[in-house]
Amino acid sequence: MSNTKVSIIGVGNVGSTLAYNLATNKICSKIVLKDIRENIVEAMTLDISQSASAANSNTIVQAAKSGKDLVDSNIVVITAGVPRKPGMSRDDLLLINAKIIKSVIEDIKEYCPNTIIIVVSNPLDAMVYAALKISGFKRNKVIGMAGILDSARMSHFIHTKLGYGAGKIKSYVMGGHGDDMVPLVNYSTVENSPITEVLSKEEIADIVDKTKNGGLQIVKLLEIGSAYYAPAHSTSLMVKSILNNDGEIYPCSVMLEGEYGHQDVVAGVPIKLDSNGLKEVVEFELTAEQKELFNKSINSVKELTNVLDNKFFN
Ligand code: LAC
Repeated sequence: MSNTKVSIIGVGNVGSTLAYNLATNKICSKIVLKDIRENIVEAMTLDISQSASAANSNTIVQAAKSGKDLVDSNIVVITAGVPRKPGMSRDDLLLINAKIIKSVIEDIKEYCPNTIIIVVSNPLDAMVYAALKISGFKRNKVIGMAGILDSARMSHFIHTKLGYGAGKIKSYVMGGHGDDMVPLVNYSTVENSPITEVLSKEEIADIVDKTKNGGLQIVKLLEIGSAYYAPAHSTSLMVKSILNNDGEIYPCSVMLEGEYGHQDVVAGVPIKLDSNGLKEVVEFELTAEQKELFNKSINSVKELTNVLDNKFFN
């Protein structure tokens, strides 16, 4: 944790909860918060700094006054972006958020060109693609958070169904962070036993369905936004893994360079992280059905990135 700096761009619910998590758990020594809403960033900086004091943590939290405050960031987390509003098409949202990503990347390129970028903004995989193309960074330096979140949701729904195993359930979800994500049933375990041994086909189908709709379920209930505790915690695991080289395998969104038979497309796959970001993509053996579902998910991501290629990068 010594001399490690994490900057968070966008201090909404996910960004501030992430900062709170990192600060109170002493995961890095310095956190810089940046947002176009000056009062909010100031308020969050005070509140989270005071949380760190309460936690006897020596993590320093500061509000960025300009892009210059990003200098020496080991990691920049981008949560900035707008949610879809009534009357806004998917493409509109895509283009608006790509523009926001662009302005953030301009600061990163100027002030911390060696940093690792974690993208959290939606639509996730397309925003990772945009960040990669705009920054020109190598793929190891631009990684999206979604698979850990989707996997955590799957573990939650497995627990709900089983009624036991809390904290001992491991799940993996691959593919894009969208309706076509691919929960890997045969790689999901409870206390190291495959869930297929303890749950029926129907029960597993229900878990898969609930996992895919896990984000939407919370959006509908909240009415004023989307989930933030699980997204923030999932991001903190990536930060920790990068800073500490803990060697965990996490599903994250990265540019594929031939793995799983795809290239020049971003999707969630199991990876190992280290201090340079993506260390390696781990190739799980997939069944024919899983391969087909993964390809379908890739096509959905491509539909979005094609819009970026045609309307944003042209
Ligand atoms: C979620 C959305 C907001 O899954 O990405 O919670």
